[in-house]
Amino acid sequence: MYIAITALKGGVGKTTTAIHLAAYFQTKAPTLLIDADRNRSAIIWSREDKLPFFVASQAGATSLIKKYTHFIVDTKARPEQEELKDIAEGSDLLIIPTTPNHLDIDATLKAVELLQDLKANFKILLTKVDGRTKNGREARDFIKENNLPVFKSEIPLLVAFERASQKGVIIKDYSDPRSKSGWLSYQGVGKEILA
Ligand SMILES: Nc1ncnc2c1ncn2[C@@H]1O[C@H](COP(=O)(O)OP(=O)(O)OP(=O)(O)O)[C@@H](O)[C@H]1O
Ligand SMILES: [Mg+2]
Repeated sequence: MYIAITALKGGVGKTTTAIHLAAYFQTKAPTLLIDADRNRSAIIWSREDKLPFFVASQAGATSLIKKYTHFIVDTKARPEQEELKDIAEGSDLLIIPTTPNHLDIDATLKAVELLQDLKANFKILLTKVDGRTKNGREARDFIKENNLPVFKSEIPLLVAFERASQKGVIIKDYSDPRSKSGWLSYQGVGKEILA
């Protein structure tokens, strides 16, 4: 399966999502994370060799394709329309992470319009959801009112995600009382994809 993580906004959790979905898919079959972002955030995350899957640059991935069953592609923020078209054509599924923030939701609606024109298979993922506020619920209601596909599972706002990235590990391997709920949320997304 070929899954791309993309969004018109930066900082919405694309790389965090790519890393944790790659970890989930790796538990099912050999999975390669392709870092297609010039910032190389996923490659940097993997530098200490503590991730349970391999990360390659786009150029480096070509020779590795045969070895893997699943591919998760982390893309850069704000792709041009043409780039989005390429990403959509090359993928079985596009995941659009968005926080409940209204500016991020606005950008998501714009991305969705482009993707609908391209007849791409996409699904929105709510990220950085602060359980202490109603923002997540309101964003979900808004997405549903617009008849857009959204994962039932959503990713909680947890400092442990940031700490895990600093340590070069996935959240499951970062010692924190809330790590388990963070990992469960991405496992939930993975299960929905494979269901
Ligand atoms: N669920 C979360 N809870 C708390 N912090 C998070 C969560 N997801 C991501 N972050 C943090 O938010 C920041 C941006 O996340 P990330 O790098 O995954 O986003 P991105 O969309 O890939 O950004 P960019 O556009 O720069 O590539 C990082 O510091 C990351 O650790
Ligand atoms: Mg990123």
